[in-house]
Amino acid sequence: MEQPPRWALGYHQSRWSYYPESRVRRLADTFRQEKVPADTLWLDIDYQDEFKPFTWSAERFPDPAKLVSDLRAQGFRTVVIVDPHPTKEPGYRIFDEGVAGDHFVKNPDGTLYEGPVWPINAPNKPGNSVFPDFTRPATRAWWGQQYRMFTDIGIAGIWNDMNEPSVWFQPQNSMALDARHDHDGQPTNHAEVHNIYGMQMTRSTFEGLTALKPNERPFVLTRATFAGGQRYAWVWTGDNRAEWASLQQSIPMLLNFGLSGFPYIGADVGGFSGFPSGELFTRWLQAALFSPFFRGHTEQATPDQEPWSFGPPYTAINKSTVELRYRLLPHLYTVVEEASRTGLPVMRPLMLEYPEDPQTHGRGDQFLVGTDLLVAPVLTEAQTARDVYFPTGEWIDFHTGARVEGGKTHKVDAPLHRLPIFVRAGSIIAMQPVVQHTGEMAAQPIVFRAFPDAQGRATGTLYDDDGESMAYRDGAFLRQRATLRSVRGSACVALETVEGDTGASPRERRFEDVQGQPLPAC
Ligand code: NOJ
Repeated sequence: MEQPPRWALGYHQSRWSYYPESRVRRLADTFRQEKVPADTLWLDIDYQDEFKPFTWSAERFPDPAKLVSDLRAQGFRTVVIVDPHPTKEPGYRIFDEGVAGDHFVKNPDGTLYEGPVWPINAPNKPGNSVFPDFTRPATRAWWGQQYRMFTDIGIAGIWNDMNEPSVWFQPQNSMALDARHDHDGQPTNHAEVHNIYGMQMTRSTFEGLTALKPNERPFVLTRATFAGGQRYAWVWTGDNRAEWASLQQSIPMLLNFGLSGFPYIGADVGGFSGFPSGELFTRWLQAALFSPFFRGHTEQATPDQEPWSFGPPYTAINKSTVELRYRLLPHLYTVVEEASRTGLPVMRPLMLEYPEDPQTHGRGDQFLVGTDLLVAPVLTEAQTARDVYFPTGEWIDFHTGARVEGGKTHKVDAPLHRLPIFVRAGSIIAMQPVVQHTGEMAAQPIVFRAFPDAQGRATGTLYDDDGESMAYRDGAFLRQRATLRSVRGSACVALETVEGDTGASPRERRFEDVQGQPLPAC
């Protein structure tokens, strides 16, 4: 997978659905007033006209271009959902073009395959849908070009949902197994291509966005995919529930995704169906702080579910949770870059780094981020302490600087406001002051915080680039190594460029010790 755009690592706010336009504007304003950092707002299916892909509801969103550019001026990106089920409706451009270009899946007798999805619920013109044959190269190209109406107005990313494909009231809630597909020129039935349909849709989206904006990193989120799909899209775990059990399940699910080659992943924070208690939402936000994809989302008709929706004490805690995510973004971006280069996951089960230690096996309630952070979220109700297994070596409490001996289980404090995070002794973590969105980062220093081992040694790396263009492929990036040294008895940090071009990362550098006190450069 490619290095993703940096904004995609910020906080995302979604729900089914924010509409009309005035509600979206109010949401954006509230983020900035409450000073909860966020980068991306999401529009779910109700922005469309009668649930038709590649349309806008003129009543709910009369001037999408203006909305998107006003949000951009406030530092927000906008992502819209696009599902694979155009309505079968002569006169609707996508349907007409699709028929003319032979783009839709067929029945064995050559007629159009059709079935009910969201457009069957359209208020004025309900109807069945037809389905693009994403296994056909010309169809992928055609569909990919449709995104122009979004990229032209500054929409930053696309959410492909229902792409299993979901077809309601069918035996498997999906397409008939005898439906016909092109299969890249080797015609076959749906049974053979079912598992790759969603991935081929995201391939069409990714390649379309790449062709439309060649110098921008595409952002695509998908619900369905297949091995190899990590090249095209981020993935979320689909419709979870606002229950503690669902929060608990999210950790092994995300770890297994990572081991399966999908590092850019997340689960709906707070749970999709139902409504979480303030405590569950707060704990979920903490547990998701290191998910590459960090998005609050909820189903239709639930009460407000934003970081400030639960009142005190949750609002202040949630704000500081999101702030911590932003403070750690330089490090997270570095780990994400490693994932894009090596395929190693961002969130790692302990056993990936410590396979020889049987105590690390089968642990689905704590995880590593890269090699240097150990995270142990609280996953049960009314708990203010938990057991954490520390792999061999020494670990340092990120919040207090206290040292913890590895190779053992320790009970650690986890009051409601605290996500237990430990740093591998001997690491240096790249951080930054709180910003409200990634667009503010350029004006802030990168702060390397040293967590020395017992011998006083520490080292860490930073990857940085412009965060959005493809220029990194041509060398416009920087990889630096920071090393804690002792010069004439006092500590300082030496920074060396390992690879790349220092001009690609012009931000000021600062250094600090484990307590956040400044350290000089060597
Ligand atoms: C199903 C998706 O899983 C969910 O996230 C979304 O909100 C609904 N479809 C409506 O688009």
